[in-house]
Amino acid sequence: MQFPDYRPRRLRQNEAFRRMIRETRLSTDNLIMPLFAVFGKNVREPIASMPGQYHFSVENAAKTAREAAELGIPAIMLFGLPEKKDPLGTGAYAKDGIVQKAIKEVKNKYPEIVVITDVCLCQYTDHGHCGMVESGIIDNDATLDLLARTALSHAEAGADMVAPSDMMDGRIGFIREMLDENDYTNIPIMSYAAKYCSAFYGPFREAAESSPQFGDRRTYQMDPANSLEAVREASLDITEGADIIMVKPALPYLDIIGRIREEIDLPVAAYNVSGEYAMIKAADQMGWLDGTAVAMEMLTAIKRAGAEMILTYFAMEAARNLNSG
Ligand code: PBG
Repeated sequence: MQFPDYRPRRLRQNEAFRRMIRETRLSTDNLIMPLFAVFGKNVREPIASMPGQYHFSVENAAKTAREAAELGIPAIMLFGLPEKKDPLGTGAYAKDGIVQKAIKEVKNKYPEIVVITDVCLCQYTDHGHCGMVESGIIDNDATLDLLARTALSHAEAGADMVAPSDMMDGRIGFIREMLDENDYTNIPIMSYAAKYCSAFYGPFREAAESSPQFGDRRTYQMDPANSLEAVREASLDITEGADIIMVKPALPYLDIIGRIREEIDLPVAAYNVSGEYAMIKAADQMGWLDGTAVAMEMLTAIKRAGAEMILTYFAMEAARNLNSG
């Protein structure tokens, strides 16, 4: 059938028709809100590189988590900024570390919200790398135990799910084993499986004070030019025990999300990263585009590409928009 017998515009003529044939529906159920926790009391410090995002002391992080839950957002992803950094990133796996404290506060106050934690060392190491540094090289195997200890300390503090973002080889298996040995067989692992070495993380590194102090992350994060490798990374993580496969960033990697969705039978998450957020916020502030409208379109596109879960700094804004429409 073709024109003039078939006219696609027939089913676009009003909102009722459009609603009936809509293929993708973004829901608050799809959203995960990242939050940055810092030491201190009553802190709610705006993050310059990410307008609308804050550094929260734990009680304010818990309040914000509650607001998110009330808007229908099922989960938060916690990041922490330690008081001091050292070569071994000890703040990442300290019992009284910032993320551990924030988990406890959120779960004590609002147990119903799912607390996911980013498992990585880069916020906690003085060199800013995601692993141990040995003679200027990121030492994969020396890092695994510290990552597993970090994940375990999060589980002990009450986290519902851990999300390793370091991109060391073999870390999913190490973390799974550590959790299982300590009777946390029920804690799922959301693996940052296809995490690209991306300049879109810039605003986050300013927010988390986690820029590498020498070199870059190209020896562990993926080359943006690769797609087959993403499938290979995801397959490895599944073999090691991952429960959810994440692609990161999201918007410039919709093809990867689509490919992983087709080739992998686990739930797929996408991380709509800081740079994707900051670009839209900046253009919105300049009056160059309608930030909320663009954000909704972008999140719908990420879901259409195949992600069931979307980690996004737009979570609250998007939830408000969804609830009002
Ligand atoms: C930690 C981590 C990063 C992000 C999430 N976890 C930074 C990085 O890898 O440099 C980026 C998140 C964002 O840009 O929003 N490894």
